[in-house]
Amino acid sequence: MTDIQKFIGDRTIAIVGAGLVGAGWAVVYARAGLRVKMFDANPEITRKAVPLIAGQLAGLKKHGLIEEEPAAILARISTASTLAEAIEGVAYVQESVLERVDVKRQLMIDIDAMASPELIVGSSTSGIPGSAFALGLSISPRVLIVHPVNPPYLVPVVELVPSPETSPATVEFANALMQAVGQTVVHVRKEVEGFVLNRLQAVLLREAWALVQEGVASCEDIDKTVRDGLGWRWSFMGPFETIDLNAPGGVADYAERLGPLYQRIAASRQHEQPWDEALIKEVEVQRREHLDHAELESRRAWRDEKLMALAAARRRP
Ligand SMILES: NC(=O)c1ccc[n+]([C@@H]2O[C@H](COP(=O)([O-])OP(=O)(O)OC[C@H]3O[C@@H](n4cnc5c(N)ncnc54)[C@H](O)[C@@H]3O)[C@@H](O)[C@H]2O)c1
Repeated sequence: MTDIQKFIGDRTIAIVGAGLVGAGWAVVYARAGLRVKMFDANPEITRKAVPLIAGQLAGLKKHGLIEEEPAAILARISTASTLAEAIEGVAYVQESVLERVDVKRQLMIDIDAMASPELIVGSSTSGIPGSAFALGLSISPRVLIVHPVNPPYLVPVVELVPSPETSPATVEFANALMQAVGQTVVHVRKEVEGFVLNRLQAVLLREAWALVQEGVASCEDIDKTVRDGLGWRWSFMGPFETIDLNAPGGVADYAERLGPLYQRIAASRQHEQPWDEALIKEVEVQRREHLDHAELESRRAWRDEKLMALAAARRRP
């Protein structure tokens, strides 16, 4: 008996919202051996998700990232035409609907009305704390945030964020489920908008937009700085380990040498700096010089190919 079967048994996972992230989650669960039911309020999206997933599985096979035949994994994924059908008899729901508080709240109310007493719900929200949409219902102790990175079947990290009403048993379940399906768990101990991942990304993006606004560098040169600079180390170590290795005496030595520089930079960015219309337009123009709008889809496929090659390389000792 595998780890997953120990606590899921032969029950199914439901994915509610089968867009970019929901479809990616279906791959995560099905490749780990679980049965998956997908439901989207837009039946066209559910229909499109199946061929999309077939293509993703073919890519994983090509890069040696799955042993099973794609068709065998795909056979574990089915679709449902209503929410009730999707959650009937399942152990866990991966909520992946639009990033809007009203949509997520209504879905929690709907699930609450029809859920079995053991059903657990993980929300994929990128940054909305559970307190904003998951409190005061009988299901609330069994709801938490299970925030992935897109696409979740290629980027393993998942943030687990309980609301004040989430029970410890729910966090334990989600932690065990994520470990069993091969994701990397980060525990966010306090509710905060954007959690950890998007707060870190927010700081980098804020500076990137400001540097373009001030004419310090072009979008492409900023992208190059991350792609051919910071990102090289970040693909296998984090910022704290990076600085620990970047001074002869480790992190404390680094803080003494370069702390004042970073503090001056942080102090210089205390004011509000919205992404105003003119700035967004400028960045859009610069980006479209490098990538035509019509090529966004094929470039996403290119990105996923790169991630698969990276995942295959990281598996080698
Ligand atoms: N795209 C990313 O990079 C990313 C990364 C991590 C987390 N997320 C989060 O995942 C969630 C989904 O994002 P996405 O990028 O897949 O968006 P998406 O627009 O591709 O998919 C959302 C889907 O939800 C469906 N939907 C809306 N209301 C519904 C309902 N009541 N019941 C069932 N389906 C419903 C829509 O029809 C749509 O297909 C959001 O909360 C988002 O913040 C996104």
